Amino acid sequence: MGIDIEGGVRPCISTASSDLYRRQRRFFAQVYESGAATPWPSVEPTPALRRLARLVKRRKGSSRILDLGCGEGRHTLLFAHTGCFTVGLDYLAAPLRTVAQRARAKRLTSLIRLLLGDALMPPLKSGRFDVLVDSGVFHHLKKADWPIYLNRVLGLVKPGGYVHLTVFSARFKHYPGERRTRNWCVHRGHYDRFFVKRDFADIFSAQCEIVAIEEEHEGLNGFFHVLMRMRPTDAGPAG
Ligand SMILES: C[S@@+](CC[C@H](N)C(=O)[O-])C[C@H]1O[C@@H](n2cnc3c(N)ncnc32)[C@H](O)[C@@H]1O
Repeated sequence: MGIDIEGGVRPCISTASSDLYRRQRRFFAQVYESGAATPWPSVEPTPALRRLARLVKRRKGSSRILDLGCGEGRHTLLFAHTGCFTVGLDYLAAPLRTVAQRARAKRLTSLIRLLLGDALMPPLKSGRFDVLVDSGVFHHLKKADWPIYLNRVLGLVKPGGYVHLTVFSARFKHYPGERRTRNWCVHRGHYDRFFVKRDFADIFSAQCEIVAIEEEHEGLNGFFHVLMRMRPTDAGPAG
């Protein structure tokens, strides 16, 4: 059975930074279209998300997962493999076609929906997901766009649902000896932001309880894997 790629990309919402975002989208498009290996793993899920997938599998009932900026779908396929209905959203068709092929090969098409769309304007209804996975999108958003992310993107998750972020830590380096004087830079046409541990409470605590923060640092790589739980809304407590 095949798998359709639904949707279409509307322009990014932040007009002030739209030129940078256009260049950023071109950067990602060139990465996928070059045929060379992507700078991040294409197939192997992160250990942190493997652990979350095991946790989700142990929970009773089925969970709905959103993999924001899913790329070639290493985490979309991971969660579908546990039996969860998983939506993979990306604003580029090329990686979504790869996810579709992989889903077919692994006979997971019935558990996966692929959406072509902008993460800041997700073509999805709010409060529908049990888990939001963001591996590598938030750290490419300018601070001016965080309120959109906090309201619109986190709003897709049910109260009591989980948000898992993987973002650059301040220890990440693009090349050996790289020196930075601030916590962001524009590198090869895309915006990167680098976080320290206390940032997550500052940014997310109004919407989320921080469950766990894990720092990974090896060679040039430096990442935070952050698990958060959506706070209950006024409508009722989280289950
Ligand atoms: C660093 S890659 C990570 C891919 C994947 N999440 C993974 O961990 O393998 C970031 C992905 O997010 C997508 N992306 C970045 N900004 C986006 C946006 N505003 N809307 C939708 N997708 C976006 C890119 O096309 C790219 O596939």
